[in-house]
Amino acid sequence: MAEVDLVNTGLPLRLGDGGQLYFREGLPAVQPSLRPWEELRPVLKDPGSRPEGTAYLMYRDVCWPQHRESLEGHRLRYDLTVIPAARAGKEPVRTHGHYHATVPGSDLTYPELYHVVCGEAWFLLQRPGPTGATEVVVLRGRPGQYVLVPPGYGHVTVNVGKSTLVIANWVERHFASSFSEMRARGGAAYHVLDGPAGLELVPNPAYGEPVPVRMRDAFPLRALGLAEGEPSYPAGVREPERLGFLVDPGSWRDVLARAWQEGGLA
Ligand SMILES: [Fe+2]
Repeated sequence: MAEVDLVNTGLPLRLGDGGQLYFREGLPAVQPSLRPWEELRPVLKDPGSRPEGTAYLMYRDVCWPQHRESLEGHRLRYDLTVIPAARAGKEPVRTHGHYHATVPGSDLTYPELYHVVCGEAWFLLQRPGPTGATEVVVLRGRPGQYVLVPPGYGHVTVNVGKSTLVIANWVERHFASSFSEMRARGGAAYHVLDGPAGLELVPNPAYGEPVPVRMRDAFPLRALGLAEGEPSYPAGVREPERLGFLVDPGSWRDVLARAWQEGGLA
C-alpha cells in the first residue's frame, strides 16, 4: 500500500505501510500504544485463528504545542487509531471494545466523537443491561463522516474494508474506559463475521436472547454543528467550546438527543 496523507485530520500526518504515522512539518510525534492480537483473544469469535503481532495502534493526545493549554483547559483530547486490514479467521479486525466512565455527579457516561479519516468502519454501539445489552446500533462510516457515541453506550469499531482504517476521536481527556464487561462476555452482543453473501452480524450467545440491531449509515451531526467532510482536528481546536458535550453531557442532554434523532435513532 502506498503512503497516504491523512488530509481528513487537518494535520500533517502520513500513514506508512505498517500502520505507523509520520508526524510532519514539526507536529510533535506521539509514540503509539500497541494492541497485540493476544489482548483481543478474550473478545474474538475464534481466538485460535488470530494472527501474531499487532492488531492496531493508538496515538493518543495528538496536538500542536500552541493548542495544548487550551485543550487541557477544556479537558479535551484528540486521538488517532490505526487499524490495518486483517482477519482472525472469519472475523475482520476490530477494537477490543469498552464502556465509558460515568461523569461524576451525573447519571450519564461520557460520550465520544469519532471521525473516519480513511478506510471503512462499522461502529457497533450497545447499551448495557442486566443480561448484557438492551440495544444495539451499527453505524457504517466512510471517510469524512462523524459518528457520535452517545452517553450510555459501549462501543467496538470494526475495519470492514480492504485497506487500513484510520479513525480519529475527540474525548474528555481524563476518564478511564472499562474493558471488563466486553471481556467477560467474549466481545460485544454481535460478532461481525464473513458470511456467504458478505459481512454478517452474528449474535454472541453470551448475551442470551439476541436484541434487534438497528443498522444505519453514519449521518450528519447537525445538532452538534459538525459538517461532514470538515477535518476533525481543526473542528475541535478552533472552538473547543463546541465540544463541551464531551465533558459535560448533562448540560447538552437535549442537543445530544437531537443529534441522535437526526439519524432516525430515538
Ligand atoms: Fe470509547
